[in-house]
Amino acid sequence: MPCSAANIAWVRKMTPDPINRRLGVLLSGRGSNLQAIIDAIAERRLDATIAVVISNQKNAGGLERAQRVGIETLTLSHRGWPSRDDYDRALVSELRSRNVGLVCLAGFMRKVGAPLIDAFPNAVLNIHPSLLPRHGGRGMVGLAVHAAVLAAGDTETGVTIHEVTPVLDAGPAILQVRVPVIPGESAVDLADRVLEVEHRALVEVLADLSGSMTAASPAPIRALR
Ligand code: GRF
Repeated sequence: MPCSAANIAWVRKMTPDPINRRLGVLLSGRGSNLQAIIDAIAERRLDATIAVVISNQKNAGGLERAQRVGIETLTLSHRGWPSRDDYDRALVSELRSRNVGLVCLAGFMRKVGAPLIDAFPNAVLNIHPSLLPRHGGRGMVGLAVHAAVLAAGDTETGVTIHEVTPVLDAGPAILQVRVPVIPGESAVDLADRVLEVEHRALVEVLADLSGSMTAASPAPIRALR
């Protein structure tokens, strides 16, 4: 799926402050987006360090991907905390103790709230496999998103990388990439094609941030390099 100027739009720039290139990746599952970040760093397409990978699920495949390349991992179950905020505060404490500058939700199946968002102002991003605000919100995860796209008869879908706010999937978009729907394709096939674009788009946003994290620049529209 080529990413041309016609199907990609920078919506706005994130301007985290203060800035560093230490990423904290939060995930719950297989971690293919984490892998895209790992590969981009290894291939020097991305100037950043993954300080820690945190999962709320002990069997998340993403933990193994991180451990394989020596990245610190942590399982922090969301169960047993007095409140959601307490869990978020625990996440903040782990991220801060590792001097994380940017938090990346890469398939983290938990809604994060004010304690985490306020602790990392303008520096929590999420990746979603549709063109938000279409097909976002509660229950819109995994194949459900792509099934909803097909059920709605949409002719295009895509990827949104957005800043995280307390309202699920409603934070301001940073980058969107459109992906045409192929008539008759299955949700699984569509998911595979969108996932490939997710990997590229996520790395593109992180690379952009790592180069211009201190600049309060306006939002340009440009193609993936
Ligand atoms: C991706 O589709 C992402 O957009 C969504 O969760 C999925 C995670 O996939 N938020 P992976 O674990 O990175 O492979």
